[in-house]
Amino acid sequence: AQIGVTGLAVMGRNLARNFARNGFTVAVHNRSFARTQSLLAEHGDEGVFVASESLAGFVASLERPRKVVVMVKAGAATDAVIDELVPLLEPGDIVVDAGNAHFPDTVRREDALRARGLHFVGSGVSGGEEGALLGPSIMPGGTRESYESLGPILEKISAKVDGVACCTYVGPDGAGHFVKMVHNGIEYADMQLIAEAYDLLKQGLGATAGEIGQIFARWNTGDLESFLIEITAEVLQHVDAATGSAFVDIVADQAEQKGTGRWTVQNGLDLGVPITGIAEATFARALSGGVAQRDAARGTLVADVAPWALEDREGFVEDVRLALYASKVVAYSQGFDQIAAASAQFGWDIDRGAMARIWRGGCIIRARFLNRITEAYERDADLPLLLADEYFTAAVGAGVGAWRRIVAGAALHGVPTPAFSSSLAYYDGVRAERLPAALIQAQRDFFGAHTYRRTDRDGSFHTQWSGDRTEQ
Ligand code: 6PG
Repeated sequence: AQIGVTGLAVMGRNLARNFARNGFTVAVHNRSFARTQSLLAEHGDEGVFVASESLAGFVASLERPRKVVVMVKAGAATDAVIDELVPLLEPGDIVVDAGNAHFPDTVRREDALRARGLHFVGSGVSGGEEGALLGPSIMPGGTRESYESLGPILEKISAKVDGVACCTYVGPDGAGHFVKMVHNGIEYADMQLIAEAYDLLKQGLGATAGEIGQIFARWNTGDLESFLIEITAEVLQHVDAATGSAFVDIVADQAEQKGTGRWTVQNGLDLGVPITGIAEATFARALSGGVAQRDAARGTLVADVAPWALEDREGFVEDVRLALYASKVVAYSQGFDQIAAASAQFGWDIDRGAMARIWRGGCIIRARFLNRITEAYERDADLPLLLADEYFTAAVGAGVGAWRRIVAGAALHGVPTPAFSSSLAYYDGVRAERLPAALIQAQRDFFGAHTYRRTDRDGSFHTQWSGDRTEQ
């Protein structure tokens, strides 16, 4: 077999089928053989599968250098499979972890396997079950050498946009999983922004879920066109069969997470990169799940809000659209800053334009405007701030008035919009001529002699706050 997949739960199974459907002979293995058998029974006619009951048999069925895709739950299960696999492999073989691993784990595993002459490829794979089967976005890390033989296979099974594969070499060791982590962080921000837009339309217009779904469907024909807007339109128009109510109205309002958003925020703090959109989105999920706190606050905390009496309903819808677009650009701009910071810190040399290119199709955040991001990094590969690219400066600039009206309106009418609001605050912060950070530096010097720099000359200074207030 040319490639093997071990771990045949939904994602692994669909990846294996995708390889087979693209003409590769695929070795398949699963801890319980019954699952392997069911894959063959149900989909054996889609291509050539080589099934093995034992891991040793699976490894033996692969051509050299062996390429083994591990598709098991991130964490201890991945380590267990790798530990079992490694003694069966030979130098030059390639192990691909296609799960949502935390990138420091990938760095550690790559190091351990390299010491044994093996290539370890931590690869982000996005697109859910359907993407795995029909063409995901693939973000492989590891050595360039491993990409030479593995890359063409992964590119073949990936999504294509304008004939271009949504897969490219990302960078050494943990780079692939890092980029996937940031993809998921942006996914959280995107979803939260869409949810806030829905809430604004619901509370502002008093519209039904179905009506709002139609607005999203319309938005999906313009600049906002994306997978998440498309599915939002579908979800909002879906009716619950049991009650006849709008489906979204019967779903419990507590958002969960598996942890990739949290990792993104933790890393943003470590690198000192303000990924406020992603952070607010992650905390908003936490707030929604804080049942005790919400019970204590609901009906207790004073609202003091006026009812939202809109004069221009169409104008309001357009304002929400513009505010959503602007906030979305902020979330991406911040996410790409995070990638740049990690790339510099870990020496990964990640091409941000290429990342935008492979996110255009297959993945959860696939969107029309990713073309614009690629173009921005093509204009300037070292762009310090995506928002400052000429296209985005103009596109966001055209909606700033709407953005301010929406954030102000949300505050006045008591609609929680943490991601819209913090994105606007970031925008105003980053473009400010002068920030009150000067006062913070002065305070730090006052109570801790932490020193400050001056605007008029170089050096580090301290004022004798408790003495005669002279400067040193
Ligand atoms: C993808 C998704 C995928 C998964 C997330 C959901 O790119 O295909 O991001 O990785 O759906 O893990 O994350 P939460 O459960 O944390 O929302």
